Amino acid sequence: MTEPEGRLPERPTVAVIIVAAGSGARLGENGPKAFVPLRGKTILEHSIEGALGAIEEAQVVIVAPASHLAQATSIGQRLAPQYVTVVAGGDTRQKSVAAGLAALEPGILTVLVHDAARALTPFELFDRITREVTRTGGGVIPALPVSDTIKRVDAATVVETVDRSDLVHVQTPQGFPRQHLVEAYAAATSGAVPVEYTDDAALFSAAGHTVTVVDGEARAFKITTPWDLRRAEKLLTLGASTRTGFGVDVHAYDAAEPLWLGGLYWPDEVGLAGHSDGDAMCHAICDALLSAAGLGDLGGRFGTDDPRFEGAHGDVFIAETIALVNGAGYAVGNVSVQLVAKHPRLGERRMELESHLTSLVGAPVTVSATTTDGLGFTGRGEGVAVMATALVHADR
Ligand code: CTP
Ligand code: MG
Repeated sequence: MTEPEGRLPERPTVAVIIVAAGSGARLGENGPKAFVPLRGKTILEHSIEGALGAIEEAQVVIVAPASHLAQATSIGQRLAPQYVTVVAGGDTRQKSVAAGLAALEPGILTVLVHDAARALTPFELFDRITREVTRTGGGVIPALPVSDTIKRVDAATVVETVDRSDLVHVQTPQGFPRQHLVEAYAAATSGAVPVEYTDDAALFSAAGHTVTVVDGEARAFKITTPWDLRRAEKLLTLGASTRTGFGVDVHAYDAAEPLWLGGLYWPDEVGLAGHSDGDAMCHAICDALLSAAGLGDLGGRFGTDDPRFEGAHGDVFIAETIALVNGAGYAVGNVSVQLVAKHPRLGERRMELESHLTSLVGAPVTVSATTTDGLGFTGRGEGVAVMATALVHADR
């Protein structure tokens, strides 16, 4: 993103520690589980991409096996060049998380700990956990109800059927306030024999803190066995879907402003009012792309009260949007745009406009224009409306 002069970029306050240092003995592939391929990418890449789709920019801490630090670093830098840290894990998951905690940047307030092995975790789950940690100030974990009947057994003999109504099975990412989690980890390892907990929430609770549950996601299952890996492959094949999105933007004419439309400057044309440069075409394209990828809308992503976007040109929004869409695991198929306005006339600049937008989006963008026979606000010449549709393909 282009930062206005004199302003430092905001440092993230959320970190996602992705523990990827296990050997994957039960999967039985050659090499550590996080580096096993899953439909053209490693399991680790799939899980990082899930974390990168979250609304808040986060520090990504990859905890890798000591033997795979270079590979993890190159993956991390390619996917998340901004705030990525790679550290070596330990011989238990708990030690690996501890290594990740030691690598947090100073400004981090909320930590999400996530198993790399949960490769298909949707990004919405990261948002849900972060939001709840901020709201409750405690630990938050995703959980799903137990659907199978549960029996207590003594060797092969059934002792009783357990009431499952108050049982859940839990997943990751598990989120915590940073300070409390770091202290809880210190407490767990302070004795002569460190206590090993089955998950971070158990360790956090043992230190006296509250943990609450939110709805988990079926797709956040952990790839443990070869069957799980086949299932993930199957889901990705089914999920390699095409999605459409739609976006509309309207701006009033403002004769005092220069006209920026579709990322181009239009000399001798009446400009458009707006918090940014009023480029309704770029904004409609962004909304279409964001909605196709299930990422909300422009206002939600780049708030109009955010001073970084004051006066920002459309290409800044498009570049940011494409990064989000790709980060969420989608490639853009094409974008189609229609300008509804009395002026400007696209005329001979239509080709230039299409090629400019095509290079910004990285996929074909076509532009058409219409008037409304004098009807409505566009017909009266009060402003422009732009409508856009986008097609994206899931690639994870
Ligand atoms: N993990 C880790 N460090 C360890 C052990 C596990 O970072 N010493 C991570 C794994 O990479 C995985 C997550 O913790 O992402 C959950 O562990 P699990 O599914 O048990 O993975 P593995 O330990 O690798 O698998 P297995 O138990 O089959 O060997
Ligand atoms: Mg294990």
